[in-house]
Amino acid sequence: MDTQTTFSPTRTEVAGVDLQELAAQHGTPFYCYDVSKIEERIADLKAFDAIRYAQKACSNIAILDRVRRQGVVVDAVSAGEIGRAMAAGFRPDGDPAGIVYTADVFDAQSLDLVVKHNIPVNVGSPDMVDQLGEVAPGSEIALRINPGFGHGHSQKTNTGGPQSKHGIWHEQINDVLRRADKYGIMVTSMHMHIGSGTDIEHLAQVCGAMESACLEVGRTVKTISAGGGLPVRYQESDESIDIDRYFGLWDQTRRNLEEKFGHSISLEIEPGRYLVAESGYLVAEIRAIKQMGENTFYLLDAGFNDLARPILYGAYHPISVCHRGGSTGTTQEVVVGGPLCESGDIFTQQDGGFVARRQLPSASVGDLLVLEVAGAYSYAMASNYNSKFRCPEILIEDGTSKVIRRRETLDDLLSLETIPE
Ligand code: LLP
Repeated sequence: MDTQTTFSPTRTEVAGVDLQELAAQHGTPFYCYDVSKIEERIADLKAFDAIRYAQKACSNIAILDRVRRQGVVVDAVSAGEIGRAMAAGFRPDGDPAGIVYTADVFDAQSLDLVVKHNIPVNVGSPDMVDQLGEVAPGSEIALRINPGFGHGHSQKTNTGGPQSKHGIWHEQINDVLRRADKYGIMVTSMHMHIGSGTDIEHLAQVCGAMESACLEVGRTVKTISAGGGLPVRYQESDESIDIDRYFGLWDQTRRNLEEKFGHSISLEIEPGRYLVAESGYLVAEIRAIKQMGENTFYLLDAGFNDLARPILYGAYHPISVCHRGGSTGTTQEVVVGGPLCESGDIFTQQDGGFVARRQLPSASVGDLLVLEVAGAYSYAMASNYNSKFRCPEILIEDGTSKVIRRRETLDDLLSLETIPE
């Protein structure tokens, strides 16, 4: 892990590429991703036997291709994600499997694809065992277990405990094994993911729960997955996770199981946010600055259609200003919002929708504003709300920029719609 990033209030470039030039070339808003940051984060996790990227965090096929080239395998949660993984060159076979389907339900399309391509399944509901067993008896599966507790940066990203819909309840393992027996299905892998954006104290509790769940399943288990959930730093006060310590806890769990089972156990991790969050920047232009009572608003050409995390979770993203001319060196307290017709379209808000002010460099209309640590769950959750065109994504690699998704057009928006006679 590198030294802690300090967030700077001004920024002119990303990985050596000038942001004003990118804006002049591609217009605003746009996302850009610094590939070297993704590579650094992958390297942090190399002690694990397999790094399975949770592509829901950022699923552009160019990003998938780059992580694949680093030896990373992938998780897919839908027919679309299976398709993306295959388009980026992942294959379901191999050890570890290049693609694993992880979900709490099969829809008809995903079940068809799983069977057609023989994609290993990480089962999150008992019914999935029967549904798979009917069409693919004799399969080997993973069980995603809900250990009865969870934790996330928001209640909406906590995936454990009785309020969560995720996984197989830890007291129902035996029931699931009986269902599996009926179809000759064997449980060869065990998985737990208690939430996203959690912390090491909560993650550490998973190890004990994993060990007992594996002992209940028995010696067929060959692989365990620690799931995702690794936090990243969004502000100065956030701490970096100690990956060595985290690996140590899981390595001990793996060793305990190896001793009990008498065979080797492979240890996987399934990060989304950790691999891509810091690589991403949403670059927008300040289009209006206005005073509303005591609040000064910077209004951008990007809104929650581009980055939904603040409105969804009150999530904090560091913000910097990229001045067109020079900076005045002064700062002011501002609220940062977007162009959408909804008052929740505010990037500086707290959980519950409370508008917060941020101390930012003084800026003018036409300056760029950069929402940082926006590689994870950012473009991936973008929408066409207000019929906004989703913005381009740009990859920055070896000092050069490449468009990996173009800006949408009106034709793109309308091409799926029909006016009946
Ligand atoms: N594995 C499973 C089964 C998951 O459901 C998830 C995330 C991950 C791995 C990856 O978790 P990560 O390493 O990224 O924490 N939209 C929210 C996050 C939702 C996470 C969903 N599942 C956000 O913007 O914070």
